[in-house]
Amino acid sequence: MKFSSCFSNCFSSASETPIDIGRAEIEGENYQNFTVFSYSELKVATNGFSASNKIGEGAFGSVYKGLLRDGTNVAIKMLSVELESMRGEREFVSEIISLANLKHENLVTLKGCCVDGANRFLVYNYMENNSLAQILLGGEQNRMKLGWEARRTISLGVARGLAYLHEEVEPHIVHRDIKASNILLDQNLIPKVSDFGLSRILRDNASHISTHVAGTLGYLAPEYAISGRLTRKTDVYSFGVLLLEIISGQTVVNFDLEHGEHYLVQKAWEIYRANSLLQLVDPTVRMNYPEEEAVRFIKVGLLCVQETARLRPEMPIALKMLTNDVDIEGVQISQPGLVADLMNIKLGQKTTFPCSYS
Ligand SMILES: Nc1ncnc2c1ncn2[C@@H]1O[C@H](COP(=O)(O)OP(=O)(O)OP(=O)(O)O)[C@@H](O)[C@H]1O
Ligand SMILES: [Mg+2]
Repeated sequence: MKFSSCFSNCFSSASETPIDIGRAEIEGENYQNFTVFSYSELKVATNGFSASNKIGEGAFGSVYKGLLRDGTNVAIKMLSVELESMRGEREFVSEIISLANLKHENLVTLKGCCVDGANRFLVYNYMENNSLAQILLGGEQNRMKLGWEARRTISLGVARGLAYLHEEVEPHIVHRDIKASNILLDQNLIPKVSDFGLSRILRDNASHISTHVAGTLGYLAPEYAISGRLTRKTDVYSFGVLLLEIISGQTVVNFDLEHGEHYLVQKAWEIYRANSLLQLVDPTVRMNYPEEEAVRFIKVGLLCVQETARLRPEMPIALKMLTNDVDIEGVQISQPGLVADLMNIKLGQKTTFPCSYS
């Protein structure tokens, strides 16, 4: 799959600003179903971006539930990135079209976008079961909805989505922000990776890391958090953390009065060293899961979070390890990396790092 920005000729205006995109259905073999929406259309769909339509807020802006004229539900992300770090209008739309062209069962479908002066919006398929974060944070009652089968499906689906971005898209995409809130679940609990490629809408050298939620930091590979070195192995690290969360039902960072702050990765490593990995499995699925498979999933999680990036498996291999097509019996697991000292990453701010690619 070729990922490129060769769509400038979709636009009639040669000038960068202002550009009147208006409402255009961009048709063509590869760009079916992509719509450039008008602002008024999105306004009607969201009851004027009313508070009751707002379903969340992330590093890039607020998300609203919307109902399109044709009766489809959508999630509309209103981007609130400073204009200077955002790509120009035409470049922005062509990047979005390229992203929308990436189709995979485990990626959220980007239906379209909207540019209205300084305002930019992304329009996605609406996912009925919200995000994995909502389930994991929602207490035992919520976690009970996810039996072992569902956890397996979600783990494998996310691995497939990521393997696609890493290996089948050209040039490859490093997600940068794999975490439970970016794994959305459709009506059948099929996982859809969201927010991939968003750094492409930013100008070169600008990059966003969402540090607005403390939990986000626990997903960051140490080499990325410390030096901004970004490779596919950065995503592998985050995937490992996510996998440990899915199996354990615990969030990435936990706090209790007795132990203070403790990290899931650290806990999993201690349990592994004590040779009692099954202790990590979420009590809400206990008694009813294949133990061998659970141990394998936790070990794959630990292999993915190893401190030394080069020792982490590539995503297609991690996937094969999960499905037991690559045997991990006897594979050495080395110490996990952990970003515990976060003193110089300021919470609540958007951090700009230099980036480098593998
Ligand atoms: N396509 C969608 N369908 C349903 N709900 C969605 C969709 N996209 C986003 N949401 C909801 O909106 C929330 C906010 O999403 P958003 O991506 O803005 O923030 P985030 O994932 O928490 O952080 P980040 O900005 O780092 O990705 C999500 O957690 C989810 O609950
Ligand atoms: Mg998100």
